[in-house]
Amino acid sequence: MELRRPQADPAHDDMGCWYRPGYTAPMKIDGTPYRSIWVDEQDGWSVRIIDQTRLPWSIDILRVTNVAEVAHAIRTMQVRGAPLIGATAAYGVCLALRADPSSQAMEGHCAMLAETRPTAVNLRWALERMLTRLRNTRAEDRVRAAYAEARDIADEDVAQCQSIGRHGAELIEAASTRTGRRVNVLTHCNAGWLATVDWGTALAPIYTAFERGIDLHVWVDETRPRNQGAALTAWELGRHGVAHTLISDNAGGHLMQHGEVDLVFVGADRVTRTGDAANKIGTYLKALAAHDNGVPFWVALPSSTIDWTVSDGVREIPIEERAQSEVTTISGRALDGTVTTVRVAPSDTPAANPAFDVTPARLVSGLITERGRCPATADGLLGLFPERA
Ligand code: MRU
Repeated sequence: MELRRPQADPAHDDMGCWYRPGYTAPMKIDGTPYRSIWVDEQDGWSVRIIDQTRLPWSIDILRVTNVAEVAHAIRTMQVRGAPLIGATAAYGVCLALRADPSSQAMEGHCAMLAETRPTAVNLRWALERMLTRLRNTRAEDRVRAAYAEARDIADEDVAQCQSIGRHGAELIEAASTRTGRRVNVLTHCNAGWLATVDWGTALAPIYTAFERGIDLHVWVDETRPRNQGAALTAWELGRHGVAHTLISDNAGGHLMQHGEVDLVFVGADRVTRTGDAANKIGTYLKALAAHDNGVPFWVALPSSTIDWTVSDGVREIPIEERAQSEVTTISGRALDGTVTTVRVAPSDTPAANPAFDVTPARLVSGLITERGRCPATADGLLGLFPERA
């Protein structure tokens, strides 16, 4: 599908369009600045998303027009990544209100959206924020108020991720100064601009350091079963010109033993008030390997990913169990160019597919947030967010 370039239209600016003249988006596809979600430039109300299930084979931009399509997009991971799921749900509320602005419908749709994926707390955070704004708004004013709030959520995510980039880039700069050579960063899953509205979390420091001219290279975990590393992170880094190498999920420990990894940066789907971090399945194993090898392991997150109600991540964070078929099959492009799915196990082999794991805070060197870096502890987080005390 041909990539559509958003047209600048200041008339729609107040409805959440971001591509006004002068917008300097850091992330680009073939030179064109993009966000991962935006309001359609022609009609000013429908929502545009990049179908991430089709990457890297094709860049399909979908037009989403109702709340059922939004729920489908989140469930099927056409959009994914904790901050982007939150922003998408916020726009889902806008679309739901266009059809029915009543309180009853609004509450029902928010409850439905909240169930689409269980682990990323940004989803519930965004829906709660929308409801807080809209419950005290008259029904006839709700659509406009909803679009304004969704736009704020998206814009704040961009600003927060940019700030995470600055705070995290200092770590890469320090490693560069210390070693006097190219810095090797390992990352798991996709915590780049595709997983947020722009910039990314774990990849934002990498983009920032890259823009500052620091010589760096990224080890990209493939991230089975859905291969977000191979399909999405490798694609993002490649489009941006960042040096990277794809590795199998099992290679990281070996590379760390041989001094090939200076830093690990990962994102998070939910961080407890004590610093435990839920992220894509396999993150915990990388943290164990990093700990054993003295490699700093950093978790990058906007504050919308912190669940202040939870203390024990391993016991309290709900872990999404996804379809067995994601483990027993694999998708890719055949040599004839067609995208296809093949089985990798006997047809009667049962599979388990927990989509996330929890890295205990004791294995996390520190957290990178929009307000700065802190130890992965309750005191560390409260030091940055004293209003939560
Ligand atoms: O299942 P996904 O692809 O939504 O999981 C995404 C992740 O685990 C990311 O690392 C996390 O959401 C951080 S995104 C900035």
